[in-house]
Amino acid sequence: MTSRPTVAIESEAQQIIDRYHEMSDLDLAAEAGKVCRQVHGEGVLLRGLIEFSNRCTRNCLYCGIRRGNHHVQRYSLSEAEIRESVRVGFQRGLRTFVLQGGEDPLWSTTDIARVVEWIKDYTCGEAAVTLSLGIKSRRCYALLRRAGADRYLLRFETSNPELHSYLRDGISLARRIEALKDLKDLEYETGTGYMVGLPGESEWTRVRNALLARELKADMVGIGPFLPHPQTPLAGSPQQPLSLTLRAVSLVRLLLPRCHMPATTAAGSLDPAGREKALSAGANVLMPNLTPTIYKADYQLYPGKICLDESGVKCIGCLSLRVKTVGRRLDFSIGAAL
Ligand code: 5AD
Ligand code: SF4
Ligand code: FES
Repeated sequence: MTSRPTVAIESEAQQIIDRYHEMSDLDLAAEAGKVCRQVHGEGVLLRGLIEFSNRCTRNCLYCGIRRGNHHVQRYSLSEAEIRESVRVGFQRGLRTFVLQGGEDPLWSTTDIARVVEWIKDYTCGEAAVTLSLGIKSRRCYALLRRAGADRYLLRFETSNPELHSYLRDGISLARRIEALKDLKDLEYETGTGYMVGLPGESEWTRVRNALLARELKADMVGIGPFLPHPQTPLAGSPQQPLSLTLRAVSLVRLLLPRCHMPATTAAGSLDPAGREKALSAGANVLMPNLTPTIYKADYQLYPGKICLDESGVKCIGCLSLRVKTVGRRLDFSIGAAL
């Protein structure tokens, strides 16, 4: 499955890509790390993640909580549990909360809007609310924006249109991009991103992924390794090395110097030092998981997920030590789009 260039690449991007092809992993990470420090300083922004529902009507081939995986114990946090997770994170100093869930129709848009309003009220507007709820209608996005949601995460997963429809059970890349454009129009700070090492992906796909993130003018770009989940149709796919993901992080840092990029939990799950390596390769965000620990094991999009037994607060302590090993420090500020 290959896809060909559809648009002429502008010359600045072309130069960056030419250099990317020539550079070793080490040199590329060093250059992207330098750009990251120049733009973002040495602070690593924190986002408190709340995985509030693992119910999903979709059946993405790669995903451990896909509809077809009947081994998963389905859960949804109550509104009281979400509020408690936010309280704990806010008291520990977090100023961004990410509400993430599967595409779960049992959570109505008005119910989510009520939670968003509560968070904005509780934090006196001092915290940003980020949503990650998949594709919704423009009307729903507008309603949630009016309720106070500031940001939205919607990875496009892969820029190869054929591969996208295949992996996402017929849903087109074009529909994903339309949703991202709706979010931009509604003035959400918009995050996208993709997995690296999907079966059927080529080096050209990875370059095209980075170019698409740039074309979309993404404020945030989440890039993580694809980890084959044993209870999915992609169980037998090979695990690609973390170095491919690190190169992708660096390329996006060079193409979009101002964007916020997490050192993903998936990177930390593939390699014990994966998040630190991603920070050194150009990432500037970490996402401690505030989901109550009793639910964490049931939200495994990929296998081997770390921090399942630790509370989010414990992880913040752990992360503050880890970032020091790569010459960085935690930054508890709201970290708006630049
Ligand atoms: N491996 C790595 N990342 C995955 N995601 C879903 N399934 C997997 C997997 N098997 C990622 C997708 C999704 C994000 C929330 O998790 O990119 O957008
Ligand atoms: Fe559902 Fe998202 Fe998993 Fe797809 S990737 S099955 S939409 S939770
Ligand atoms: Fe969770 Fe280290 S970051 S235990």
